[in-house]
Amino acid sequence: MPQRTHTCGELDMEHVGQTVVLSGWVHNVRNLGGLLFIRLRDRYGITQVTFDQSRDAGLFARAEALRGEFVVRVQGEVEARTPENINPDMKTGRIEVMVGEFQLLNEADLPPFEIMEEVRASEELRMKYRYLDLRRRRMTRNLELRHRTCMEIRRFLDDRHFVEIETPFLTRSTPEGARDYLVPSRIHPGKFYALPQSPQLFKQLLMVAGMDRYFQIVRCFRDEDLRADRQPEFTQVDIEMSFIEPADIFELLEPMMQQVFGLIGIEVAVPFPRLTYREAMDRYGIDRPDLRFGAEIRDISAHFRKSEFTLFRRIVAEDGTVRGIAVPDGVSYSRKVLDELQEVVKANGAAGLAWIKSEDGQVRSSLPKVVGDDQLAQILQQAGVAAGDALLIVAGDTPTVRAALGALRLHVAQRQGWTDPNRFAFCWVVDFPMFEWDVEEQRYFACHHPFTAPRDPDFTDPATALSHGYDLVLNGLEIAGGSIRIHQETLQKKIFKTLGITDDEAREKFGFFLDALRFGTPPHGGIAIGLDRLVMLLAGEKSLREVIPFPKTTSAMCLLTGSPAEVPAAQLAELKLRSQARDHE
Ligand code: AMO
Repeated sequence: MPQRTHTCGELDMEHVGQTVVLSGWVHNVRNLGGLLFIRLRDRYGITQVTFDQSRDAGLFARAEALRGEFVVRVQGEVEARTPENINPDMKTGRIEVMVGEFQLLNEADLPPFEIMEEVRASEELRMKYRYLDLRRRRMTRNLELRHRTCMEIRRFLDDRHFVEIETPFLTRSTPEGARDYLVPSRIHPGKFYALPQSPQLFKQLLMVAGMDRYFQIVRCFRDEDLRADRQPEFTQVDIEMSFIEPADIFELLEPMMQQVFGLIGIEVAVPFPRLTYREAMDRYGIDRPDLRFGAEIRDISAHFRKSEFTLFRRIVAEDGTVRGIAVPDGVSYSRKVLDELQEVVKANGAAGLAWIKSEDGQVRSSLPKVVGDDQLAQILQQAGVAAGDALLIVAGDTPTVRAALGALRLHVAQRQGWTDPNRFAFCWVVDFPMFEWDVEEQRYFACHHPFTAPRDPDFTDPATALSHGYDLVLNGLEIAGGSIRIHQETLQKKIFKTLGITDDEAREKFGFFLDALRFGTPPHGGIAIGLDRLVMLLAGEKSLREVIPFPKTTSAMCLLTGSPAEVPAAQLAELKLRSQARDHE
């Protein structure tokens, strides 16, 4: 018997009458007494194979011992199913294989959960037995989609003269704002490599080297707080180009996304809308706006500048703001719903939520009576609130109001069902601030990373300086980020100085890079796409873990291998390390 002549996903009417050999896993067994049906599964699909007691009682008796997840090879003839037995939901649903012989290749323990499309097991169990979880069609499909996405991107970039170049994993710290994963050196006791948070400096060095167009599908490592859209090791499609402007990056990524979304049959319209950071924050309260829906934030401060309502008048006078979002059908929101929305804005720092509704020509509001009906009507009109809608209002300092309304807008969108995962709304966000002031540490941080070029190299006020950074946002997720880089040593030093990094520190950390900038560095820029996030959206999944073969939990653990783990004392000794955690035991 050959290993197999076909896969479990390909037999159809044209194979009827042929003798075939299939190998795979027993998906399930149905014994009707005299007839035994097994659904045989491999990566490609499922085929029903049938044992008939009346044809071969010995074979039938052996087959009765088969259990779920046993590995078998069957040989038999492809037969057309009778009309009443046709399964239109299965690719191979019009045929079955009448088994003449089979071999049990391997037995299996009872699996800890059933291998079903909609799994009922907890995520912990799925992670611990990930190899079983990956047998599910949904997971196989996700990994295949990930593969096809990578292939499409490689093809796309190769066609445009990009060269894929590998950069080191054992390296020095690359600042992207997270903590480093460190690797101790045995040969140099007391010294450590850092796993790269991104290949940022190496890709820039490749531009100094004249490689002109680089890319790499590469793992990055960041020790940061995890969420559904973050993993400690994740994959970037990392890109760098010489002699470019931001538009060159936009015009590269837009057709790339068209090609990639073609894989799932989605037509993507280009060019993508471009918003400045300021616009994004003002209109959506967030720097990664979900543009699948409107409900933009409206500024209604002007109405309260001379209002009798002292609370709002004072807020506006003290440089604060009053803003709101219009919610279609908001008149139907009950007290309970409004309370729930109030909790959302409070959780985001706001003092409370006010509302104005207009219904049957009547205006109602939670604002005090001193705000007269005329004024309420004017506010609704200015904010573009139609009859039947509600205006949800937050007042306070600008950052808080933006954050609260940004979160409220997303919450309302979930409630209203505006977040259809089959719709895709891209946008570019540009003109980010260059620096962010950290109140606790009393110093500036780079909003992107410290190698990002400022729009104006002669800037004098870090608080207002804008950067040449850009993010690609899809359905409210940042799926790529990049910038035009600094290519002159003097400017790079100015940025380090603004960030409070002394010359000595800069030399110690990035001396090799500052040196390189002195040897004819071309103007350059690039971007990195979060591959896991992109594939998650392509696959319609809600968590990165669904598109990563062996992911970590939100506490950065691999439940399959049990890492991180303690190591033998001898191994630590070899590295001249002692574990404080163990000393305390
Ligand atoms: P940035 O830090 O914005 O830029 O990262 C680029 C993209 O990588 C994805 N990403 C992540 N995905 C999963 N888990 C994480 N922990 C995680 N962190 C980031 C996001 C993000 O947009 N060197 C620069 C790129 C450049 O300037 O060219 C960089 O790494 O989708």
